[in-house]
Amino acid sequence: MSSSSRSPILQVEDLLKTYRTDRSLIKRSSVKLTAVNRISLEIERGEFFGLVGASGSGKTTLGRLILKLEPFDAGSIRFNDLQIHGLKGSKLKAFRRQIQLIPQDPYQSLNPYLSVFDTIAEPLIIHRMGNPGERKVRARDALEAAGLSPADDFFPRYPHQLSGGQRQRAAIARAMVLKPEFVVADEPTSMLDASISFTIFKLLSEIQKQKKVTFLFITHDLAAARFLCNRIAVINQGEIVESGPTLDIIENPQTEYTKSLIQAQPSFSFAQKAAAAT
Ligand SMILES: Nc1ncnc2c1ncn2[C@@H]1O[C@H](COP(=O)(O)OP(=O)(O)OP(=O)(O)O)[C@@H](O)[C@H]1O
Ligand SMILES: [Mg+2]
Repeated sequence: MSSSSRSPILQVEDLLKTYRTDRSLIKRSSVKLTAVNRISLEIERGEFFGLVGASGSGKTTLGRLILKLEPFDAGSIRFNDLQIHGLKGSKLKAFRRQIQLIPQDPYQSLNPYLSVFDTIAEPLIIHRMGNPGERKVRARDALEAAGLSPADDFFPRYPHQLSGGQRQRAAIARAMVLKPEFVVADEPTSMLDASISFTIFKLLSEIQKQKKVTFLFITHDLAAARFLCNRIAVINQGEIVESGPTLDIIENPQTEYTKSLIQAQPSFSFAQKAAAAT
């Protein structure tokens, strides 16, 4: 194996992000909120890495910083050994192609006025990839790989004509059509019920294995992380409180916070009670 294939695809070092929030409209005072507090982590190429934490812990903020959707205050993010901070021109365009987001709520993120075909073809047009015929082929492949088949039946539909699970599959096809190296999936099933969520998890797992994509999977759900992720980092109030192989952390949590996340999972409590009863 060459050294480049072993180098991490993403290296986050000592990352800091604060927001100023206005305390009062009359007095011009503001408070500083630290959403990401000196986080360091590395994600290896091809892994399914989980970022697990309760609501408000800073998961989406970290994801948005990695996607270069917002500036940060201090620290660094390296993607494929390039500092994303200074990316410009063709390198920035390449970065925008290589890293994609699967959003939490496809109802909000999909444009209601775009058909499924236009939704999936749009990133190809933005990145000037292919002619109309080639774009159709790529959109069809992406949609069918996301489990909406035959694609031609789904192409003319609009987001409101899809079920929640189908909508998320269309959002996944849109993210995958550019053949990204790295995907941030931010609570991709929080709007779906448990059985549909499970089919989406299986799809993401297949994509990771077949297309050798690296995933950053953001969730508050340790059971989902256990199913999908080889390693996880647990985040609390903007800080990583522990990280390592998923099973090690679930079986031997080192912090009260992680223990409380485990207790909050009905499936874990249920499994523990069932194990205790036998
Ligand atoms: N644009 C913003 N302006 C001000 N504060 C923000 C902004 N975005 C996030 N925050 C704050 O940063 C903190 C972390 O928020 P973030 O959305 O990253 O949490 P999260 O872990 O994704 O939560 P959830 O599970 O609810 O999605 C919260 O206190 C939030 O209120
Ligand atoms: Mg969030």
